Amino acid sequence: MPRLPPIGIRRLEALHYYVHDLERSRRFYTRMMDFAETATTSPEHEAALHQRSALFEAGDVRVLVSQPTGTGTSDASLFLRKHPDGVGMLVFEVEEIETAFRLLEERGGTPTTDVVTVRDGGGTFRTFGITTPFGDTEFRFVERRGFPAPYPYLEPLPAPPGGSNRFGFGHIDHVTSNFLTMKPALLWMEHVLGFEEFWEVQFHTSDVGGERKAAMAAHGSGLRSVVMRDPHSGVKFANNEPWRPDFQASQIQLFHEDLRGDGIQHAALTVKDILAATRGLRERGVEFMPTPASYYERLPERLERTGIGELDEDLAELRDLEILVDGAGKGSYLLQIFLRDSAGLYGEPEAGPFFFEIIQRKGDPGFGAGNFRALFESIEREQDREGRG
Ligand SMILES: [Fe+2]
Repeated sequence: MPRLPPIGIRRLEALHYYVHDLERSRRFYTRMMDFAETATTSPEHEAALHQRSALFEAGDVRVLVSQPTGTGTSDASLFLRKHPDGVGMLVFEVEEIETAFRLLEERGGTPTTDVVTVRDGGGTFRTFGITTPFGDTEFRFVERRGFPAPYPYLEPLPAPPGGSNRFGFGHIDHVTSNFLTMKPALLWMEHVLGFEEFWEVQFHTSDVGGERKAAMAAHGSGLRSVVMRDPHSGVKFANNEPWRPDFQASQIQLFHEDLRGDGIQHAALTVKDILAATRGLRERGVEFMPTPASYYERLPERLERTGIGELDEDLAELRDLEILVDGAGKGSYLLQIFLRDSAGLYGEPEAGPFFFEIIQRKGDPGFGAGNFRALFESIEREQDREGRG
């Protein structure tokens, strides 16, 4: 397909997260992640919108968090009627809102309103949203011209409480979503948004050596992934679907059950120094998904086999912090680690299955596919050691 004219996305600027407990999110972002709380809804806006919101920022990462208040209908309450806590909206900054609207509508996008203009302090904030094949997640496009606040209805806090981004978060590297079938979303991204396929991988238990396939199936390893990219802005979406024959046991199917639908599974945040960031976050009590020790026993051999060779980092330190490594060429790799999902973190299913990834790229443009297999092989090894499997 010839490349479509760009809708003019500049960047993915924010996640809008709908939650039952804004205070808990506030503690997580400001005290643990060292984000600054930069704006909140006023009591008047809360009463009018039936939701209370707060904006948390670190580097170019923005997370807007909203909790329903009272009994009125709000965006947050509509989402939470159907789902546990989750990302119900992605916000994109665009160059020209009218161009984005016209192109999206021409190509079959479904705006939920006309372009809405909010004026304040001599500036304008113009926006519209569209429905998407990402479950109940809306995509919202915004254009600002001298608008004084980050978003209408939010009042900037003169002295933002919370952090100063001591962990060095940069921007949202990619957003990963799970679907029972991803093709409608891939086609929509291609034909409506004008994105292109960037990367593809299939991972299955049959890829794993040894004779533990049945045991591995219990861990739900079958999945297929396609990454779509906006050639104009470089914004990337990774997309997963379950893969036969263990479809029901796939982690993607399990996610779908937990969220009660398709939707956004994780967002990856870039950092400049993942070792320092992970060490600091652990000291503050942030919990990460565990990595088996056997992953690191096999790492030197894997670095050899994949041609990555020597790392700048000390392997013992990576092992202590449980940071993962992937890549495909000499000296070109990425380092990544995944936080525990909210439901696991809070011991509460209604906190939802969303989680953050932290990523430091050192020349590798991938998404850590090599770690899928390495992690499953490590689990298998642990099972052997424990006499299971
Ligand atoms: Fe990721």
